[in-house]
Amino acid sequence: MNEAIERAAQLRRLLHQYGHEYYVLDAPTVPDAEYDRLYRELEALETQHPQLRTPDSPTRRVGGAPLPQFPSVTHVVPMLSIRTETDVTDQGALAFDASVRRELGLDAADAPVEYAAELKFDGLAISLRYEAGVLVQAATRGDGATGEDVTQNIRTVRQIPLRLDGEPPAVLEVRGEVYMRRADFEKMNERQLAAGGKTFVNPRNAAAGSLRQLDPAITASRPLSFFAYGLGEVRDWPAMPATHSGVLDALKAFGLPVCAERTVAQGGEALARFHAGMGERRNALPFDIDGVVYKVNSLALQRELGFRTREPRWAVAHKYPAQEALTVVEAIDVQVGRTGALTPVARLQPVFVGGVTVTNATLHNQDEVERKDVRIGDTVIVRRAGDVIPEVVGVVLERRPMQAVPGGDLFDAAQQPLHPPYRLPAQCPVCGSHVVREEGEAVTRCSGGLICSAQRKEAIRHFAGRRMMDIDGLGERYIDNLVELDYVHSVADLYALTLDDFLEMKRRADERDGVTPETVQAGKIPTKWAENLIAGIAASKRPPLARFLFALGIRHVGESTAKTLADWLGSLAVVRRAPAALLRVLPDVGGTVAEAIAEFFAEPKNEQVIDQLLAHGIAIADEHAPSAKLRDKLFAGGSKPSAELLGALGVARLTPVRSRQLSDALPTLAALADADDALLAGLPADVVAALRDWLAQPVQRQRLLELDALCRELHAALPAQAASEGILAGKTLVLTGTLPTLSRDEAGALIEAAGGKVSGSVSKKTHYVVAGEAAGSKLTKAEELGVPVLDEEGLRKLLAG
Ligand code: IVH
Repeated sequence: MNEAIERAAQLRRLLHQYGHEYYVLDAPTVPDAEYDRLYRELEALETQHPQLRTPDSPTRRVGGAPLPQFPSVTHVVPMLSIRTETDVTDQGALAFDASVRRELGLDAADAPVEYAAELKFDGLAISLRYEAGVLVQAATRGDGATGEDVTQNIRTVRQIPLRLDGEPPAVLEVRGEVYMRRADFEKMNERQLAAGGKTFVNPRNAAAGSLRQLDPAITASRPLSFFAYGLGEVRDWPAMPATHSGVLDALKAFGLPVCAERTVAQGGEALARFHAGMGERRNALPFDIDGVVYKVNSLALQRELGFRTREPRWAVAHKYPAQEALTVVEAIDVQVGRTGALTPVARLQPVFVGGVTVTNATLHNQDEVERKDVRIGDTVIVRRAGDVIPEVVGVVLERRPMQAVPGGDLFDAAQQPLHPPYRLPAQCPVCGSHVVREEGEAVTRCSGGLICSAQRKEAIRHFAGRRMMDIDGLGERYIDNLVELDYVHSVADLYALTLDDFLEMKRRADERDGVTPETVQAGKIPTKWAENLIAGIAASKRPPLARFLFALGIRHVGESTAKTLADWLGSLAVVRRAPAALLRVLPDVGGTVAEAIAEFFAEPKNEQVIDQLLAHGIAIADEHAPSAKLRDKLFAGGSKPSAELLGALGVARLTPVRSRQLSDALPTLAALADADDALLAGLPADVVAALRDWLAQPVQRQRLLELDALCRELHAALPAQAASEGILAGKTLVLTGTLPTLSRDEAGALIEAAGGKVSGSVSKKTHYVVAGEAAGSKLTKAEELGVPVLDEEGLRKLLAG
């Protein structure tokens, strides 16, 4: 038994030490697993010998039974509040110092008063009572005289020691603040949301709500923290320090968490400096503060100053501008960002918060609006921390405008909200294009990438880029001016620009910026730059298909997807018509990408821009028939639809295995539209039911028939041989020099489309070298090795067979 007693004491000591290192010092010295092992050992010992279960045992943090209500506790030393100085300037600190000096009868010649300056934590005041170093009771402040006994809950706060280190006094009441760190708060809210529980608007409410739980198991699951900042009743403390800062040092040595952000300051100006410095660092702290606290450091002077009614004369809280305020939502608007993201924005009755007047606050996205259920007319909490964009953190539901339920009993008090829940519009408020929200995405986007003025600059910049249409010289400044001065509404307008347009644009931009150059003032108008730009635009008119598709800026379509589309489908006409199901069978094109492409071409405004581009003479340089490889992707022999294509339709329960079965059963894709029970006989009932549901939707049926028509058309257009047997199959070509009409990329695309390979260097294995003007060492090498050399003309002949 003695052994057990000793081992239990040792385990408690170790667990206490490791817990302190982990939770208070944030510097663990043993792995978590070691802690867990010792904890389990102690638990086992205590189960075996219940008499070993001391009140300070780490195993006693959890496991208390839920209470019917909190017992009340009378504070021997009342928990007073401190006066708040709301003048947020330096003046607040100086005024406090002046009043202390006045009360103490000091004049200008006397030495500065010494203060302890610390933070004003934004949580909930708590009093911890330690007897003989062991935590025996924890109480809330209540009305200051009587509070609630929350001992069970406080035990679950790991930062609060159940036993003090060193030689604590016989009775020590520690006063401090229970709070929640911002990161812990965010994580907790996320967890709550995922579990369908209620979320809190700020860390303060979260801390208070968590401590007021009657079931300690709930409190245990909440990430609470604690800082000690003062004392209540104290008995027998011979070594009690003479200053407040000394008391805090002693509390820290007892193992209590004391905030390191504190200082000892001489006089009012030093206090003002502390206030200003902390104000700057406020947002970088891991927890919320709403001000700083100054306390006369000498406990003797504190006693001399005493109290005025319920507030000490020796302390003051010096506030910062509030970061949260209440106001009313007058409207909810939508902003469209340059990438097309729609952001709901609350228009607010002007409110002073975080040091500025706020009239707008972001609501982020549809999910956030729903989560917070912000409606027009609502009273909301607005938060502006530092330079962060103001945001609506929550609604004060009790103040929501209500109306009587229509048709309801006159004497019945039934009420319903005056305004419905907010939903983002289905059309872009800037350009009217339809909006899209992808599965699993929080953001709703405008689909009118090519025409939406909110996205215009970005769209044009992308379109003109090196790896896209490669419009030489069309830099950011020109694009900004062309859009801002209204010369270009869509990328198609670029091709209609005249020399006069550019010169006029430049003149107006210079006027606007007040920078008209002297040469222009002297009547000499430079035109060379504009001629170059026009030439650059004209030179971009024959893009390879892949670059053109990439240039359109279709969401999720990067260079490699654009190349896949071009290689497999061959022409712009086919890409434009391809439904998502067909796109999905292409290599590396998933559901999201396929949907994004189909959505893009489904927007009539985008189609219009493409038609305009073609009308302006854009001609794809390398269009060809669809790849012969497409046959196997779409068909399972003859006119049977492939399992892959069926799987891409998006019918529920149509797994790859079931798709294969269905493919076997169907003579054609169109047959699915009118499939009778006999045809589907081999499939499980749930798959048949899902298919029937799907086919019952007229739009799906319609799409199916269109897909069938397109597949048959493609089938007819497919070249007889697969691309791997194309005219240049197995041939390696090297390009060198400048060709008269084809760019390097264009020539490369043509060669690849014919099944050939383009290599960067000449060797014996090279089949042809295609040489243009100013060809260099590669041409010499070809001649040395006897590799046939072609010019552009020769290449074209070769391609034509
Ligand atoms: S001292 C007699 N120090 O502010 C002095 N209070 O009205 C007792 N608070 O709700 C308070 N940080 O919980 C003190 N460093 C700090 C504080 C602080 C936050 C809270 C306290 C109470 C209110 C004081």
